[in-house]
Amino acid sequence: MTASGAQAPSPFRPGLEGVPATQSSICDIDGQRGVLTYRGFRVDELAAQSTFLETAYLLIWGELPTAEELREFEQEVQMHRRVSFRIRDMMKCFPSGGHPMDALQSSAASLGLFYSRRALDNPEYIVSAVVRLIAKIPTMVAAFQLIRKGQDPIQPRDDLAYASNFLYMLTEREPDPLAARIFDACLILHAEHSLNASTFSARVTASTLTDPYAVVASAVGTLAGPLHGGANEDVLEMLESIGSEDQVEPWLDRAIAEKRKIMGFGHREYKVKDPRAVILQKLAEQLFDAFGHDPMYDLARKLEAVAAERLGPKGIYPNVDFYSGLVYRKLGIPEDLFTPIFAIARTAGWLAHWKEQLGANRIYRPSQIYTGPAGRDWQPIGAR
Ligand code: SDX
Repeated sequence: MTASGAQAPSPFRPGLEGVPATQSSICDIDGQRGVLTYRGFRVDELAAQSTFLETAYLLIWGELPTAEELREFEQEVQMHRRVSFRIRDMMKCFPSGGHPMDALQSSAASLGLFYSRRALDNPEYIVSAVVRLIAKIPTMVAAFQLIRKGQDPIQPRDDLAYASNFLYMLTEREPDPLAARIFDACLILHAEHSLNASTFSARVTASTLTDPYAVVASAVGTLAGPLHGGANEDVLEMLESIGSEDQVEPWLDRAIAEKRKIMGFGHREYKVKDPRAVILQKLAEQLFDAFGHDPMYDLARKLEAVAAERLGPKGIYPNVDFYSGLVYRKLGIPEDLFTPIFAIARTAGWLAHWKEQLGANRIYRPSQIYTGPAGRDWQPIGAR
């Protein structure tokens, strides 16, 4: 305490590194051992055994659903997949060259125009907001993809499961079952990751008691940045710019000398290879075995090996974004949709944190250490 009895300010930590900004029971990360758990369940087990909707239910309500609970949740989500023509018409006014993350942030925020605001004390409102966002985010991502190609978006198919329906709306073809299963596992792997930047945005926005559509729109804007969710798109561009395996070492040495960040590497929490990167690498190999190899994977593995020598001693290893783009590329997904797909998955985590924040809310208002000037007198413009 200071002399005036005020709380003594904590030391400033850039990026709030190591500073707990909430208490949460949703997700735990062991950055030293490379272990990630959702509500106590290991993510590798969930990726192998669960589905995205079952995992979303676990994240949001804290327990794995019974068969009846899951069936009801799946049915609710399926019934709410469609998006108002007003939103679709709004998307048709977006420039076709605009980034799909900007289209998603705009359309996610527009959902708040259709549903009553601030009924946050009504459990039914909470459930309906969760269902609507989980159900409609994929439809809006797929809709912009077709609209920017000059086509009308196609309606969701009620006979297709969540992952299959998204790939169908995106590509206009029913996906191969293996491709759909692998895509669903990717959604599980991207669903939640404790207090990352976009989830922190979600909690800060949620703490003002605004509507959940504004919360998700805030988080989408944060995820779009290249240091966060936007890295997956940049990884492929980076690999394409390296060009061939024999260029990996000179390219990496130059990048390190120029203090450039290697996209898809490093993490605030993990000081070993991101467990999600381990699983995504295996999923990529499954796709290559089934649908043909991608030589860019060999280049990625060479980069990982050389980077382990150069950057491993600093605890810099591949993160979730390093192999995810190779999986999505094999699934025929355009590069600038990689981050919107990350947003589809992370909507589950953002909603879990929104609900948790409401359960024990206090508006976020951190302090600062003022470093500016003080006691200055006004100067008329002629005297400046
Ligand atoms: C995601 O937080 C989450 O959980 C995020 C996420 C999630 O699921 O929500 O996991 C998803 O965002 C994954 C990260 C995707 N971003 C990238 O791949 C971009 C490249 N990565 C870096 O920008 C960086 O590693 C961050 C942003 C991920 C983490 O940054 P930190 O913890 O603030 O680390 P830093 O920038 O302070 O770097 C510390 C040191 C520096 O060296 P020194 O100046 O101390 O000598 O490590 C170096 C950095 O130069 N470093 C890197 C590096 N990452 C850190 N050097 C080269 N390449 C990198 N990628």
